[in-house]
Amino acid sequence: MVKDTLKVLFLAPEVVPFAKTGGLADVAGSLPSALHRLGADVRIGLPYYRMIKEKGIATRIASERLEVPLGHLILRGDVLETETEDGLPVYFFEREDLFDRPNLYGTPEGDYYDNLERFTYFCRAALLFAREVDFDFDVVHCHDWQTGLVPAYLKTLYKTDSFFSAAVSVFTIHNIGYQGIFPRERLPTCSLPSSELHPGGIEYWGNISLLKAGIMYSDAITTVSPKYSREIQTSEYGMGMEGILHHRRTFLHGILNGVDYGLWSPQTDTHVPANYSLEKLAGKKRSKEFLIKEMNLDLTLMNRPVLGMISRLSAQKGLDLLVQILDEILALDLGLVVLGLGDEEIQEAIQEAADRHSGHMGIKIGFDEPLAHRIMAGADIFLVPSQYEPCGLTQMYALRYGTVPVVRATGGLDDTIVPFDPETGEGNGFKFEPYEAKTLFETIQQAVKLFNDYRAWKTLMANGMKADFSWDRSAKSYLELYRSLFKGA
Ligand code: ADP
Ligand code: GLC
Repeated sequence: MVKDTLKVLFLAPEVVPFAKTGGLADVAGSLPSALHRLGADVRIGLPYYRMIKEKGIATRIASERLEVPLGHLILRGDVLETETEDGLPVYFFEREDLFDRPNLYGTPEGDYYDNLERFTYFCRAALLFAREVDFDFDVVHCHDWQTGLVPAYLKTLYKTDSFFSAAVSVFTIHNIGYQGIFPRERLPTCSLPSSELHPGGIEYWGNISLLKAGIMYSDAITTVSPKYSREIQTSEYGMGMEGILHHRRTFLHGILNGVDYGLWSPQTDTHVPANYSLEKLAGKKRSKEFLIKEMNLDLTLMNRPVLGMISRLSAQKGLDLLVQILDEILALDLGLVVLGLGDEEIQEAIQEAADRHSGHMGIKIGFDEPLAHRIMAGADIFLVPSQYEPCGLTQMYALRYGTVPVVRATGGLDDTIVPFDPETGEGNGFKFEPYEAKTLFETIQQAVKLFNDYRAWKTLMANGMKADFSWDRSAKSYLELYRSLFKGA
């Protein structure tokens, strides 16, 4: 069946501007609009976290006391409705006991103990709500393990429900490192029959995995860069899922994320102290000065490179490499600014280093969106030394801000960053391959050396600032994929 307007139910555990811990929220905040610009009818669903409540967003009730089975219980919760800036409906699934908490998934000490209940509720509620309000979606596009039960429900509990029978599901893996694993004894909480507890279903090395459910029961799987789609089929990057991903490889597609330049452009950014563009770079210098002062760094750094990093503090992000070589890097007479939130151990390690290097290294532990923008604008070099990186958005933001990325050649970092060649003047950053502190140091050294050559540096900045990673192309790929899932389309 070929349809003119595809109806898409877009379910994600975090969505900008409502709730965010990382890049998934950026994607879920901008891809629906890009799909809508291409003609799709997209509606977004996410849990009603405290973070959203505190923003005081105006909502109306879309469904009152929706009945949602959870194991042997029936829970009731309201569904609230608001719109995105461009008018797409957004549904918040409310349950005070499950979502009115300080964080989305857990604290720096660990995950919330009842995440299975929390996200089972979300998945089941989203489908039941769609049925209640008669949103007969063609595609449900699910993101990460928190939504992995949705494809499973469509293929099991709702297999014979005529309301859902024409719908297909797409499951996007943003990060294979988060697998939603729970003891197998807890399967009844999801209301799935024990017959699904097998290696071709939700069972995963003796437990259950909601990520695996998303992979096994969806009609198509995507991940957020072509390189990562290949990497996750290997034991080095698959984190135990490589076998099933290889088995499902004909359903697996790598589609590079895009950038929302409405939010991330130095010309229009409302968070930066001075706007700028490639033609008028003075604002970048002013942004640098502002950042140096804000982070209590030495003003002599105005003539030296300032390195920036904005990151979830997790083992994925390569901070262990950085910590090992901090003394050597700072001996190159440069500035380093780190903004991050996450694992307590990593927080302590970088805090300790910053204390030793006051004046040259500034850190902020916390989630601070405006500061993230000011670092993008104020830094000269942007570090993304990740052990693995499904796509990575910050390196693409950095390019637009003329802040030259130094990245490890993995996942989307490898797909988006091309090493600069001073001979040809081509390339947009610096890239290293082996996950070693020494190679990271040598690559930073190369960048710092080139920084002294103003003409070459400006060419490099310009190459990045001119690059276009906007969503249009990727959104088209998603639409093509959606359409390919309908027979005869
Ligand atoms: P990931 O999703 O793995 O965290 P991405 O590069 O895709 O990595 O996206 C990270 C997003 O989160 C970017 O928008 C980045 O600016 C933002 N971010 C990460 N840590 C912080 C923080 N501590 N404060 C503000 N923004 C942050
Ligand atoms: C994940 C990945 C990151 C990616 C983001 C958005 O959190 O770690 O690489 O850019 O999702 O897809």
